[in-house]
Parts: sequence; structure tokens; C-alpha cells
Amino acid sequence: MVAGFFNKSPSKAAASKGVSVTVSQGSKVLKQIDSDAPVNLRKLLLDNKVDLYKPLDKLKQCGGGGTCGTCRVRVTEGMENCSKKGLGEEKMLKAVGADIRLACCTRVTGPVSVTVKP
Ligand code: FES
Repeated sequence: MVAGFFNKSPSKAAASKGVSVTVSQGSKVLKQIDSDAPVNLRKLLLDNKVDLYKPLDKLKQCGGGGTCGTCRVRVTEGMENCSKKGLGEEKMLKAVGADIRLACCTRVTGPVSVTVKP
């Protein structure tokens, strides 16, 4: 008899390598989104129907080009699991806190918590 032959559930170690994004707005946790692979934060949020943009920003957002600044999120946990800021993002967000990121310019590789519409 082969132990575990029919066990198809992933091990805890394999499961822990995935991406997990906890999304809040204000003090309210909206949802947790999991992904098996590193992913663009804006795409993950929009694919999971997170309302990322403030009402007027929906009209002027650049579609993920990194030029409008309307997709800002606050990373409250797991900044080490986010890609580093590029020069354009760094320049655009210079006047705000270091915990603010452009979702469209952020690749997530592990567990993070973000607040939308900070
Ligand atoms: S959508 Fe315009 S900067 Fe991210």
C-alpha cells in the first residue's frame, strides 16, 4: 500500500508559497484574494471586482500605464513581498508616504495587506 497515493491536497509548504492579498477600505476588511503565482496588484484587484478607484478617478485612470496615479493603495503589511518602485512611480509618489504604491506598478510575490482608496 502506498501511503498518500490518493492525497491530492497541496502540502502546507507548497500552499505558503502563494500570493495572498488582504484588501481593506478604511477599517473594514473587504476580502482576501489568493493566487498561485506572482501577479500584478491592479490586475488581481480588478479581476476580483475590488473597487479600486475613487468615483472621478474612474474617468481619468490611465488603464494601468503608471501615469495617472489614481490606482494608489496603502500597503499595510508585506511591503517586502512587493516589487521595488521604479523611477516613475518613485517620482510620482515622492510627496506621499513610503507605504503608498501604484497598484498597476506593483508585482506581488507573497502575502500582503492593502487598503484601497487611502
Ligand atoms: S492606473 Fe494609472 S497609474 Fe495606475
